[in-house]
Amino acid sequence: MRAAWYSRNGGPEVLQIVERDLRAPGPGEVRVRVVLSGVNPSDTRARRHTPVGVTGRIPHQDGAGFVDAVGAGVAGICTGDRVWLWEAAKRNEQGTAQEFVIVPAEHAVPLPTHVSMETGAALGVPVLTAHALLTRGSGSPTLRPGSLASSVVVVRGASGAVGHAALQLAAWAGARCIAITGSQTLDSALHAGAAQAVDRTDPDLVERVRAVGSADIVLTPDPSSTIGEDIQLLTPGGSLVVYASAGSDAVSVPIFEAMRANVAVHFAYVYTVTRAAKAQAVEDLSLALQAGALSVGADHGLPVRPFPLEAIAAAHRAVDDDQRGKVVIQISDLDGRTSGLIAAHTAAT
Ligand SMILES: NC(=O)c1ccc[n+]([C@@H]2O[C@H](COP(=O)([O-])OP(=O)(O)OC[C@H]3O[C@@H](n4cnc5c(N)ncnc54)[C@H](OP(=O)(O)O)[C@@H]3O)[C@@H](O)[C@H]2O)c1
Repeated sequence: MRAAWYSRNGGPEVLQIVERDLRAPGPGEVRVRVVLSGVNPSDTRARRHTPVGVTGRIPHQDGAGFVDAVGAGVAGICTGDRVWLWEAAKRNEQGTAQEFVIVPAEHAVPLPTHVSMETGAALGVPVLTAHALLTRGSGSPTLRPGSLASSVVVVRGASGAVGHAALQLAAWAGARCIAITGSQTLDSALHAGAAQAVDRTDPDLVERVRAVGSADIVLTPDPSSTIGEDIQLLTPGGSLVVYASAGSDAVSVPIFEAMRANVAVHFAYVYTVTRAAKAQAVEDLSLALQAGALSVGADHGLPVRPFPLEAIAAAHRAVDDDQRGKVVIQISDLDGRTSGLIAAHTAAT
């Protein structure tokens, strides 16, 4: 079977396409024929910086496909089931950029038939992160329809995969969502479920957001630039949740302003969220998927950018260059619906 692989850290040029032996899943594992592999900034960061073991690494945590073989002791999942995958590469450096991936059975989650493979491949890191951010911000470990019903949630970085997922999940849970994004992506944020979208360079940003409501939760990927404004956006007792350090890694907090508003500042990192919290997130996301609340694609505010496996280096460059859209690698073509994905994207661009 074909796989993308690298044996040393570096730029996208370290990625090679190789042939690998197919092995059977062990006890508690399933083997999945990967249709789409999702690419995240943490995958390209790992390629650049995370030390590679002696056998090299097959990249990517996320993906979607069909269960192809089931190991001993696995219940509730069968050969042929459509699934989405999360943290596929965390355990053994064997990620989803290959035709067949073996994962612990709980990392392959049923994907309802009405949910596209593109959405399935876009769920893992971004949507589990969005769940972690919203639960941290709300102080409740679960999200359900109505659980954020009286809340205003402000999402910065709304056109990114994490921001997009946060808008969709918060809207599903009943929040009034306000997106802060670039001028080119205001409409996309509305498609994703924001009630209002505000240009991040608008000099009247604070007034525009407050005209909709004071925020119970603000999510930011760039606190070193935005924390002063974010505290002004929060309602007394509200929560700021930091999910990246796009600018500087150090943050200067306007302490008196923060104290006066009694706000809390949280930090959340998806890879170190507890197992119990992740299991809860998977359960909540399954409900949201059943309800049709999570979708990618231009109509839903996050265009999909497909690449063939042979062009994985270009796909990594697209992520490294912060090009807009969810980058996925088409590994195989098993469900008919993804057959024209790359051709359709090429025709449209
Ligand atoms: N804490 C965690 O556990 C966790 C998990 C996953 C990711 N992250 C981090 O969160 C950040 C966002 O991740 P992501 O997966 O959402 O990445 P992404 O899809 O590549 O989006 C990244 C950012 O790109 C900006 N953007 C949109 N259009 C752009 C364009 N044309 N040119 C340049 N930038 C554009 C967006 O901000 P605007 O909407 O403001 O334009 C968005 O915040 C990354 O730093 C990632 O490492 C953290």
